Amino acid sequence: MSDIVGRHQKTAAAIEGSGTAVPDLAVIVPSFNERGNIELLYEKLAVALKDIPFEMIVVDDDSPDGTAALTRELAQVYPNIRCIRRYGRRGLASACVEGMAATAAPFLAVIDADLQHDERILPQMLEQAKDGADLVVGSRFAGKGSAAGGLSRTRQRGSELATRLAGLVVGQSVCDPMSGFFLMPRRTFDAVASQLNKDGFKILLDLVATSRRQGRKLSIAEVPYTFRPRHAGESKMSPLIVVQYLGLWLSQMTGGVLPTTFLLFAMVGATGIFVHMAMLGLATGPLGLPFVPAQVIATLVAMTSNFFLNNVLTYADRRLHGAKFWLGLMGFYVICSLGGIANISVASMVYDLRHQTFVSGLAGAVMSSVFNYAVTRVFTWR
Ligand code: GDD
Ligand code: MN
Repeated sequence: MSDIVGRHQKTAAAIEGSGTAVPDLAVIVPSFNERGNIELLYEKLAVALKDIPFEMIVVDDDSPDGTAALTRELAQVYPNIRCIRRYGRRGLASACVEGMAATAAPFLAVIDADLQHDERILPQMLEQAKDGADLVVGSRFAGKGSAAGGLSRTRQRGSELATRLAGLVVGQSVCDPMSGFFLMPRRTFDAVASQLNKDGFKILLDLVATSRRQGRKLSIAEVPYTFRPRHAGESKMSPLIVVQYLGLWLSQMTGGVLPTTFLLFAMVGATGIFVHMAMLGLATGPLGLPFVPAQVIATLVAMTSNFFLNNVLTYADRRLHGAKFWLGLMGFYVICSLGGIANISVASMVYDLRHQTFVSGLAGAVMSSVFNYAVTRVFTWR
């Protein structure tokens, strides 16, 4: 027993029964617009975990449908329900991380709010963790598990591809590395918590890959279950999330050296080149403008499209709205112009050293991407 526990035992005894005891298991429920599911999920958890002291922590990103308010109402009745409400933020992975960071429970589980994951296997998952597994994954693909019920054909195929890609960064055999349903002892989370990527949807993948990078090969157990169709509400999966996954995957492939946001920023930059060229063609061709004004227009259009894409994709979790959006856009023009100057200076410096057009051009482009990324991170998407 630690010192602190010993010293506080008397106080703890005095407040016993007031619902303040630390439960064995914290079940983290990331939620966005899940009002129709929370109540039923809690009821099902209470049945599945009837012999296990647990708490349910809903981490809600200020859902417009009032998920948080409903959760708090329920918490009036059930003191083992907690609600973390986040403002101005979005993101499944970061919600899970914050939920896990907010509890003192020795075992942590994450489950979706929409009842797609079968909560009845939680006791078995907990058992495995108590038996020594560093991580227990509720798996749609291991053994008798199945995803057929909860996924469309296209999603199933996409999911297979994503799973295969994930295998490359996970580096060990996990049947369902994309699962959003898992359980672990605190130590697994604590060891990597500060280094998790927190972007996007794929917290489990990030957890395994980050542990591995730190030289800790996790012992992973999998418990099969059948993926169910969503109960109420709609899925938040979207093409954007697929691209974000690609960013996370690439980042893991670089051993975490290049952050996901940088890779997404660079991808957006690459689309900007196409936008620029298309606009230039349009302005000099059909619109019949001379080169210089056409180039100015093309630059502005490309910068605007880059800003927009970064705002919805790269920085989806801290998207700018309203006045901040417009201010951000103005700032973005200024920053990118400075980035352009940095580009040309570096490119001409390199060109002076070695007269190689391609190398110099590339050096300039890399310089301006790094510059734009670093500066917009500080000033635009803080
Ligand atoms: N706080 C918060 N913020 N929660 C979110 C956000 C967000 O931005 N986006 C989604 N969620 C919550 C949803 O409310 C739901 O409880 C859970 O995350 C999963 O979201 P879904 O929209 O239902 O995703 P899915 O069913 O398409 O995919 C899920 O299941 C797959 C299979 O296990 C995800 O968990 C995937 O990561 C997983 O691969
Ligand atoms: Mn779902």
